[in-house]
Amino acid sequence: MVKVEVPATTANLGPGFDTLGMSLELYNEVVVEEIDSGLDIEVLGYGSDELERDKNNLVYKVMTEVFSKLSYEPKGLRIKLNNRIPLARGLGSSAAAIVGGLVAANRLTGDRLSQRELLNLATKIEGHPDNVAPALLGGVVISTLKDEEVIYKKVPVPELKVVVCIPDYQLSTKRSREVLPKKVEFKDAVFNISRTGLLISALLTEDYELISEALDDRLHQPYRQNLVPGLKEIIEKLSRKALGVTLSGSGPTVVAFTLEGEKDIGERMVSTFEENGVDAHYTITTPTNGGAIILED
Ligand code: HSE
Repeated sequence: MVKVEVPATTANLGPGFDTLGMSLELYNEVVVEEIDSGLDIEVLGYGSDELERDKNNLVYKVMTEVFSKLSYEPKGLRIKLNNRIPLARGLGSSAAAIVGGLVAANRLTGDRLSQRELLNLATKIEGHPDNVAPALLGGVVISTLKDEEVIYKKVPVPELKVVVCIPDYQLSTKRSREVLPKKVEFKDAVFNISRTGLLISALLTEDYELISEALDDRLHQPYRQNLVPGLKEIIEKLSRKALGVTLSGSGPTVVAFTLEGEKDIGERMVSTFEENGVDAHYTITTPTNGGAIILED
């Protein structure tokens, strides 16, 4: 039996579209056991009423990628998913499923794939590295793709609190990417490049006064505002109260980084969503340097 714990992630971090991601202290568990025959999948927590329990299950599908790569044929599998990361909210639930499945399958087959190979495989499955990299490695990860190879750098997380405000509806990454333009203005690309640089240096030097400006973005959030009613107002209202506020991944969750006043910030985020007709709740967490870990063999 292999039990893997995988963190939630908040990707993009404002300007770092498809590039930056941070892992959070909120975990899914993937427990896998080889059995004599068949496929037995149990889902607890988020997705217990909607995730597939057959060969279409994402965790199962990614496990088979590892098995076929390593020419391994398990007799049967029992998979138990304990999901604490809400689905389709921009908190890396699919990245956690992919990474959890890959790490579990790799352990079952004797850890023959390196972390780098697992990251490349996870990125190929997910389509972009910004969630899967911190889910696997932990920390804040800056990543890019060169052909099918992920080039990345992990840097330590800042000592901040993260207020995570989760709307009561799902938004698929596919839908949230459909609204993005095919081309952007040169000045908007420069706007984001400069802020991405500022953000990383602000986090590394703990120069938190820079964060608010450094989280600004022109590549995705302006186009996604209509899919997340209240996003613009939350950013406007709370960017001075918190250190900075941004859409988490492709949304609809919004995250605020702060050193203090986290409950007040959370309540204001929820009430601003409510003023825009969206039910939401908030939770307070912290970034973590830890990525996917095997808890039990
Ligand atoms: N970078 C991706 C996007 C993250 O914003 O579409 C998806 O969670």
